[in-house]
Amino acid sequence: MTNNRHRTVSLRLAFPLLFLGLTACRQDMHDQPRYKPLAASDFFADHRSARPAVEGTVARGHLRIDEARYTGKISGEDIDQFPIPIDRDGIERGRTRFNIYCTPCHGRLGDGNGMVVLRGYRQAASYYSDKLMKAPVGHFFDVITNGFGAMPSYASRIVPDDRWRITAYIRALQFSESAKITDVPADQRQTLPVEPPPSGIAPSAAAPAQQGNR
Ligand code: HEC
Repeated sequence: MTNNRHRTVSLRLAFPLLFLGLTACRQDMHDQPRYKPLAASDFFADHRSARPAVEGTVARGHLRIDEARYTGKISGEDIDQFPIPIDRDGIERGRTRFNIYCTPCHGRLGDGNGMVVLRGYRQAASYYSDKLMKAPVGHFFDVITNGFGAMPSYASRIVPDDRWRITAYIRALQFSESAKITDVPADQRQTLPVEPPPSGIAPSAAAPAQQGNR
């Protein structure tokens, strides 16, 4: 009788122990052995856990053999033709990217009087200067890619093709600067705002809200 009770007690103990033992050997997928970023490793001769990319590999989406498209230059000279097709959708896309990334300094009109400038940042360039009216498109691409003077580079935020689309939109802005009412197709003239934006210190801030702003 006593013997029997002992056996039950030890069995009762043995089962949880066995269970614990089993779980200790188990490795779930959510707990995979791995190195923390930049951790040292004794396994590799150079003691780095992160392996260098195999020479000649190119990260997906980073194959850039088209010099004009990815540098805005051919043999060091700014190109003056868009290296990608630019259609209406492309210009629209350029407008939205421009409004996000460039207007804080250059203003919606591109006159260089964006809100950050009005608050004391270095005067941004006006796209209507003689120099920029005549500048080849590759120059705009280059400025967005590498920055210019006080202006930082936007390469990490704007993908190359969008830099071209922004440039196309800037060209449209430049064109609109000297556009006459007769340049607008007759059937679309009545859709234009009747009131010109008020002149003054902040024409950009006073620019009418654009419709369908994405
Ligand atoms: C943080 C403010 C700021 C932002 C945002 C900014 N710029 Fe500029 N940009 C400047 C300033 C300031 C200058 C004048 C540089 C100088 O004189 O040092 C300038 C100059 C330029 C020039 C003239 C370069 C030359 O040849 O004189 C171009 C073109 C230009 N920016 C395009 C852009 C575009 C396109 C964007 C958006 C992708 C952009 N900028 C966003 C501040 C800015």
